[in-house]
Amino acid sequence: MAVVNDHDNETSCWTVINDQVYDVTSWIGQHPGGPERIKGLCGQDGTAQFTGQHQGADLPQKRLASFRIGTLAK
Ligand code: HEM
Repeated sequence: MAVVNDHDNETSCWTVINDQVYDVTSWIGQHPGGPERIKGLCGQDGTAQFTGQHQGADLPQKRLASFRIGTLAK
């Protein structure tokens, strides 16, 4: 998680959702729900925010999967 914490800005934006790590840098400017909501995930665990908005929705889940770069080390 310390490594994810370093990627906390628009230049390099990583987030963790359900223990998977995602590089969503390129998604900031493309998100239909606006850039601010993605920026709010940078460098942190975004599980609550993501599931709170997109739980069970097919398209957001598929998009998210395309940004996966790894699994959180415990
Ligand atoms: C990396 C994480 C996220 C991904 C991959 C993602 C993906 C998407 C996608 C694909 C859409 C379009 C949905 C459609 O047209 O059916 C969308 C819309 C939207 N997203 Fe996200 N999203 C993410 C995070 C968030 C967060 C954290 C929030 C709010 C806390 C949020 C709020 C919204 C809103 C308000 C919309 C537009 C209205 C809606 O489709 O309901 N998103 N997102």
